[in-house]
Amino acid sequence: MIKKAIIPAAGYGTRSLPITKVLPKEMFPIKGKPSIHYIVEEAVESGIEEILIIVSKYKNLIVDYFDVSLELEAFLESRNKAYLLDKLVLPKVHIQYTRQPYARGLGDAILLGRSFAGNDPFAVLLPDDIIINQGANATKQLIDLYNTVESPVIALKYMKDELLHKYGVVDITSQEGQVHHLKSIIEKPKHSPPSNLAVVGRYIMTPDIFDCITVKSGEFGEEIQLTDAICKLMANRACYGYEIEGDRFDIGIEEEYLQLIRYIHGLENPI
Ligand code: UTP
Repeated sequence: MIKKAIIPAAGYGTRSLPITKVLPKEMFPIKGKPSIHYIVEEAVESGIEEILIIVSKYKNLIVDYFDVSLELEAFLESRNKAYLLDKLVLPKVHIQYTRQPYARGLGDAILLGRSFAGNDPFAVLLPDDIIINQGANATKQLIDLYNTVESPVIALKYMKDELLHKYGVVDITSQEGQVHHLKSIIEKPKHSPPSNLAVVGRYIMTPDIFDCITVKSGEFGEEIQLTDAICKLMANRACYGYEIEGDRFDIGIEEEYLQLIRYIHGLENPI
């Protein structure tokens, strides 16, 4: 059973500068709610009971957002605006926070969740990747597969050739429908990508991943990639990729962010 989730939200959001100097990408609004709210909702809908959000000193807005707002509630009641209280309802889940001192990469961020995870498998949801599906959400789709294979599962999406250089691209040994048995992951391949299946922002990890994350000293050295750790893990155990159902939008890419807003407002068909 997957009951825990880690949401890394400590990155600098360099692709979205200058606004990310002051507004975390994870707080970008989508129909009045920040992106990370949708991600927490997705986790809760898929059965997650405890969440660890990895933040940094620039991300206090995220902590504030998931706090109760007693003054605001009292104000709304005093001004006969109690009908707006529904807008303040937060997903019912226990959230805790850890600070990542330096944004040294996704692997480094996840490593901070080691004591939170303990001996339990856990989900990882990237809050800048919004995936919309009419049926089971992306995390639930991975959890369903995990419950059968009891091994790490990562979300995959088919990408056109020209986009593959921006992603981790998987090499597979075999495939059964949407389920792929993984051989390796090539991070941002410059030429000859091994497939058209790219890693997107949902994972189910087992606690043995932590021993595979290479700890490096230094503040801003080479990025500590989660995909490198998953590749190491593959040497010891089976890892699976699942071609998820749903439309995916990376809100760090302005065009996709705008597409998502239009989609959520019912102005655009799924891509
Ligand atoms: P991204 O690479 O998409 O986000 O990481 P980024 O680094 O913030 O943005 P760009 O690429 O510079 O524009 C995916 C998620 O992982 C978090 C980010 O906050 C984002 O939500 N992350 C990334 C961390 O928590 N720590 C890191 O060291 C790196």
